[in-house]
Amino acid sequence: MTVSTSSRIVVPGGSLRGETLPPPDKSITHRAIILSALSTGTSRIIHPLAADDCERTAEAFRSLGISVERDRTGAWVVVGRGLYGLNEAPSQTIYCGNSGTTMRLVSGVLAGQPFETKLMGDHSLSNRPMDRVAQPLRAMGAEIAARDGKYAPLHIHGRRPLTPVDWKSPVPSAQVKSCVLLAGLYTEGITSVEETFKSRDHTERMFSAAGIKLDIQGNRVAVRGGQTLTAQEWVVPSDISSAAFPLVAALIAPGSEILLRNVDVNPTRDGLLEVLQAMGANIKREDIRVMGGEPVCDLVVKTSGLKATRVDEEIIPRLLDEIPILTVAATQAEGVTEIRGAAELRVKESDRLAHVTSELTKMGARIQELPDGLIIRGPTPLRGAEVDSFNDHRMAMAFAVAGLIADGNTSIRNADCVDISFPTFWEEFEKLRVATT
Ligand code: S3P
Repeated sequence: MTVSTSSRIVVPGGSLRGETLPPPDKSITHRAIILSALSTGTSRIIHPLAADDCERTAEAFRSLGISVERDRTGAWVVVGRGLYGLNEAPSQTIYCGNSGTTMRLVSGVLAGQPFETKLMGDHSLSNRPMDRVAQPLRAMGAEIAARDGKYAPLHIHGRRPLTPVDWKSPVPSAQVKSCVLLAGLYTEGITSVEETFKSRDHTERMFSAAGIKLDIQGNRVAVRGGQTLTAQEWVVPSDISSAAFPLVAALIAPGSEILLRNVDVNPTRDGLLEVLQAMGANIKREDIRVMGGEPVCDLVVKTSGLKATRVDEEIIPRLLDEIPILTVAATQAEGVTEIRGAAELRVKESDRLAHVTSELTKMGARIQELPDGLIIRGPTPLRGAEVDSFNDHRMAMAFAVAGLIADGNTSIRNADCVDISFPTFWEEFEKLRVATT
């Protein structure tokens, strides 16, 4: 288990100015590695997210016999061996670190392999529910043993062919959907997944780009097994979930104006922009274009007076990872912001509802924790405090943004967990800051 002990002090004050290219999209990088490994031939991933989580997926496929190397330009070159070309991992073990996406998506691939693999994770990942993928994979014929029936380590004994299923996922989750669709490739029939609300659709877009035919009807996606994937050149746009931190910082730090380049604004991911705009945020989408099959644009963000809003269950999957930073924004909004239908946040890298409440409360925020959400009263002046990230990258970055507008210094414990998704966060954050005149 890797637990960081590093602390960071955030000194408040200043505005944000200038432009930045936020880190490449984490979800797309994971999928690009997986689909490339299962294609026949050489794929290139241009501008991949070279951060801990995606390294775990790359390492998983290396141990299954796939070459994943960095070239001189920083692109990753993956030599795929087709759907049926993976080898048994040495020691039959894959370590997924902190990465839920690695564990859940790789499980779908391993379910269709004629060998056994043990998937392990760090302390956080070992306490996140895996029954949501184990259940459909068992229904498809894979043998899966899990601690207490639901937690890692997972022992997956694959079966080929798998049996197709029509799976109704009780939680809207792109990880579950992607896991079942990947396993569906190893069946001899049609496998479908249906969710109550549509989760991010990168897998669907990238399957289509690689030549896999899908049938998509509303929130149901179906795939026929045995289709082959074509090697690609994947181009990864910037991750809106990482862009969210400088974006909210610019909204709440006085006198700010920044440009965030190449941000993926896929409609299944852009809920934060919709909510912030409803709160009065001055965010403009410029130069809307398509990059790697995803809609992207540049975002111009200026300091804005915010008013409270209500965030309900239907939009949660479109801004799931952004709720900690949205909460920081809501502490500065006039009125009472209510976020509901977000119980999923309790099973992320940490219990985000509990920890965002406890730590921002130490900074003077007025937040009430609900079983499935938060009530935030604003605007509230924040004060510097000692807070803990609980080794959750998105919490560390949200607290850094809160610290920017606090009265006094904020000390963030376990701050180097930003390496999970935004390894350059601390440098970028300082680079965008200018002293107020
Ligand atoms: C992800 C899906 C989401 C998200 C996670 C990445 C993905 O999780 O929170 O950071 O790449 O599929 P769920 O599928 O659990 O909602």
